[in-house]
Amino acid sequence: MLPVLLPFRASSLPLRKGPRTPTDTPAVAGAVGEATGAAGAATNMGSPPDTSKTTKLDRYNSFLRRLNSAKLLAASTKLLFRATLLAAVALILLLTLHYPLPLSSFASSSSSSSSPHRSLLSSLASPSPSVAGSASWVREIRRSATPRRPHGISVLITGASGFVGTHCSLALKKRGDGVVGLDNFNSYYDPSLKRSRQKLLSDHSILVIAGDINDSGLLAKLFDAYPFSHVLHLAAQAGVRYAAKNPQSYVTSNVGGLVSLFEAAAKSADPQPAIVWASSSSVYGLNSASPFSERHRTDRPASLYAATKKAGEAIAHTYNHIYGLSVTGLRFFTVYGPWGRPDMAYFFFTKSILAGKPITIFRTAQGGEVARDFTYIDDVVKGCLGALDTAEKSTGTAGGRKKTGAAQLRVYNLGNTSPVPVTKLVSILEALLGVKAKKNIVTMPSNGDVPFTHANVSLAAADFAYRPTTDLTSGLRKFVKWYVQYYGIKLKAAAAAAAASRKEAM
Ligand SMILES: NC(=O)c1ccc[n+]([C@@H]2O[C@H](COP(=O)([O-])OP(=O)(O)OC[C@H]3O[C@@H](n4cnc5c(N)ncnc54)[C@H](O)[C@@H]3O)[C@@H](O)[C@H]2O)c1
Repeated sequence: MLPVLLPFRASSLPLRKGPRTPTDTPAVAGAVGEATGAAGAATNMGSPPDTSKTTKLDRYNSFLRRLNSAKLLAASTKLLFRATLLAAVALILLLTLHYPLPLSSFASSSSSSSSPHRSLLSSLASPSPSVAGSASWVREIRRSATPRRPHGISVLITGASGFVGTHCSLALKKRGDGVVGLDNFNSYYDPSLKRSRQKLLSDHSILVIAGDINDSGLLAKLFDAYPFSHVLHLAAQAGVRYAAKNPQSYVTSNVGGLVSLFEAAAKSADPQPAIVWASSSSVYGLNSASPFSERHRTDRPASLYAATKKAGEAIAHTYNHIYGLSVTGLRFFTVYGPWGRPDMAYFFFTKSILAGKPITIFRTAQGGEVARDFTYIDDVVKGCLGALDTAEKSTGTAGGRKKTGAAQLRVYNLGNTSPVPVTKLVSILEALLGVKAKKNIVTMPSNGDVPFTHANVSLAAADFAYRPTTDLTSGLRKFVKWYVQYYGIKLKAAAAAAAASRKEAM
């Protein structure tokens, strides 16, 4: 600190000789002119006192005192400012060293894959600044997880910033249940859409933590922070065709991640939560009996995605059997709607049609129509809530040591019960968008897609009154309304542009 202090010692203060600035006080400026006189007085110390000279000297001394005290005041203010600045910098450095993820937004607790720098950066984009496991983090978790209605449930939702996860989170929160989300915001499709959904949830006081289901440390901390009554497990690598590009991602999230979640629920959570998780209609694979019933064969998956979901159903059986976890698997049938997934046909058809670009429609090897049991998101959400509400408690003890009895193990189809040909989907979109599609019709490649899906939902209807009520036209109308709003598209202008581009191409 000495080098900082020395230049500001009163005795060493240099007298300003430069031009006046608006901050100079008249007193100080006038004194500068008298300083030369003082030097002259000092050389005449032996002469008899001269009143006029004494007065001058007094005035000069008084001036010096004023000057020094004014300068001293300015100097100490500067000094105080610098010292505060230094202390703040030192404090920040200290915090950074002690807590490598100082502002980490609920980022994953495992530090293996992310540097402190990255965590800091990513946290700045996230709404909440606590470190996983810290007191403020636990407070945030509890705030979001605590139900606001009597006998409400508290649900940890994995994949909460995904399409289905967002809608389920909102529906649960709306009826007064507690919700905490977990999502790794991967870039399988545009992560900014996932961030927008996270923002939507945050606006409804729902916390979504950035983290991976494979991070067992983080899962343990979550179950430590709050005794969740349920887990709605939706995080997964979705999509059938992407497996050709990145097969390992399916194994990592849909098998490894599922085991990691079951492990934490069975062994870390106290009490063990009931688990409802997303399987898929794709497990029916090459099954040709229709409509698809839960009693049909599911041992001939046609894609790696389907195989990992089928593996998930087997793994669910194991954790139910050994640890007494209550597990319900839901086989969703082609879910669509607002905030949907850009990798799904209804979504990217819409984008291409509006851009005047051609779309590819598959027909079967026999030249038949490909059809899907398109299910509107609100119907699926009702099914998810029904499954959560009728899920029984797990029967295992904390730590996964023993179970006190058999636990519930269920699987349900959640579909619309009325398959629609993809060509019909396209004509509905054309009508809603006011644009004719450019269609390429080709034979479906054998890369995992199946020619049709059709759900029998009588089990879900019997057990939790599941009844889909939205037809494809009504559902797509809501989707298109959201789509044009979200992407800021003026439908009439887009239709005119697409029509012009069609004419040009002809
Ligand atoms: N949408 C459908 O038509 C459909 C059909 C059948 C089954 N499913 C299943 O339903 C579930 C939800 O589907 P969706 O359409 O909402 O998909 P989605 O991709 O929009 O949502 C999944 C979310 O999980 C997250 N995630 C993926 N891997 C993760 C990991 N390892 N750790 C943490 N988060 C991870 C993703 O970032 C994403 O936000 C998935 O399990 C999917 O397989 C969906």
